[in-house]
Amino acid sequence: MESKEMVLVIDFGGQYNQLVARRVRECNVYCEITSYRTPIEKIKAMSPKGIILTGGPSSCYEEGAATCSPELFELGIPVLGLCYGAQLMMHMLGGKVERASVREYGKTEVSVRTDSPLFTGITGDDDHDPTAELSHEATTICWMSHFDYISKIAPGFEVVAHTSGCPVAAAQDKSRGLYAIQFHPEVLHTVEGTRILNNFVKNICNCEGTWRMDSFVTNAVEEIKGKVGDGRVLLALSGGVDSSVAAALLSKAIGEQLTCVFVDHGLMRKDEGDEVEEVFGERGDFELNFVRVNAAERYYEKLRGVTEPEQKRKIIGEEFIRIFEEESHKIGAVDFLAQGTIYPDVVESGLGGESAVIKSHHNVGGLPEHVDFKDIIEPLRNLFKDEVRKVGLELGLPAKLVFRQPFPGPGLGVRIVGEVTADKVRIVQDADAIYREEIAKAAGEGEAPNWMPDQYFAAITNMRSVGVMGDERTYDYAIALRAVKTVDFMTAEAAPIPWEVLQKVMSRIIGEVRGVNRVLYDLSSKPASTIEFE
Ligand code: XMP
Repeated sequence: MESKEMVLVIDFGGQYNQLVARRVRECNVYCEITSYRTPIEKIKAMSPKGIILTGGPSSCYEEGAATCSPELFELGIPVLGLCYGAQLMMHMLGGKVERASVREYGKTEVSVRTDSPLFTGITGDDDHDPTAELSHEATTICWMSHFDYISKIAPGFEVVAHTSGCPVAAAQDKSRGLYAIQFHPEVLHTVEGTRILNNFVKNICNCEGTWRMDSFVTNAVEEIKGKVGDGRVLLALSGGVDSSVAAALLSKAIGEQLTCVFVDHGLMRKDEGDEVEEVFGERGDFELNFVRVNAAERYYEKLRGVTEPEQKRKIIGEEFIRIFEEESHKIGAVDFLAQGTIYPDVVESGLGGESAVIKSHHNVGGLPEHVDFKDIIEPLRNLFKDEVRKVGLELGLPAKLVFRQPFPGPGLGVRIVGEVTADKVRIVQDADAIYREEIAKAAGEGEAPNWMPDQYFAAITNMRSVGVMGDERTYDYAIALRAVKTVDFMTAEAAPIPWEVLQKVMSRIIGEVRGVNRVLYDLSSKPASTIEFE
């Protein structure tokens, strides 16, 4: 499955590190992230064709700052330092980095030398910069975000870009294959960012760019076949994007040697259980054994009277493991347990890059202890979410499933504040279906409007209040509409959905969903609120 040519991103803890790796992969070059703590011997053993040092949160000259082995610059492998990475390169090789009097932040006009292999092909708008003295100079907009600046380049380097406030926006030592860029080419605000990264990986590292999703599928299928042989594989299918794509890929590789257990806990979105069955069940297009367990009643029973959010989550997770174990006992011993782990899960759990955030709440109940298997198989372990989606489409999964919004493992359990009951599940499912339908309608086809949320859903509050319907007094629930704009789901802002769209959603929910007499729009940011309600 691994493509032979690989670029290594060394993670110093900055916020854009995963983005750098994704952008490199968009150049069809396979890319992995590793922590700056990775020993140099291990880096050499990975034999990357290029190395990228990323941003970091501190100053490189401070004591205890993240650093790397000086040998990294002597391997004969091209190195590109970005932001902190650029400063660190200069600092370690004899240049000088200092605190600037003002922070340079935001879209900035940068003059670049187009005879640098990094900036080949940038034409910019020369009329823009009347001070351009060099014939090979162009101006282009880049994204800057730095307090420190490179005040002196290291011996052997030459300056190949600058801004009005930053004397060294980029520097190079072509003979050693070392390049440093102060701005962020990985961020979309940098107009020529993709070209710059493409120049680095193709022209400087000499990568061919053969990493593609169709070749991923072909190679992954071969690899799975080789690993599994005539063994049996068990997969817990949640109906989410990752486990669905894993199921489709495994099905293509090993057909009926795969059994998927789909536990419908009764906390899915409206009709979602049936949609999963349509795709993977007997009438679907995939060759596999599909087991659907309708466990809604069992869950509602377990959750009766439970109001504490962590306890609810725990019950939902544990019950899932229990049901999965029961089913697996019916199936008997299997050789492999498959999981839909994807690359950000690997990085975020501290295994790939530097990020120490362990999203333990995402592994709903952990691994089942009482399932008899020899090994774990994770066919999507090296892919980013957008790549997983491409693989899903490539394998023929419906777009509706492939482009599903993130949905928490405990499902509607965390969108029903307080006790979970079948009636509250019905209310939140119906309200949410209306909300999603109206947002999709308002967003239309083609390019998404600016207000388009990255995640949105209805939740049912635990508040009942007085209303009036016809001549009758009502005492019903309030539905909260949540919609957020976010990049990483760690911080988020409420999305500015147009008023008339919200009004339409409100009037349909109150008119069509029995048991609701109030609709609220949640304005809170994360932090201090979370995206989900529990
Ligand atoms: P919060 O509520 O923590 O949500 O701000 C951040 C993102 O994570 C999703 N989320 C979960 N996903 N299992 C999951 O797989 C969970 O237990 C879980 N809790 C929250 C949430 O939907 C949002 O995208």
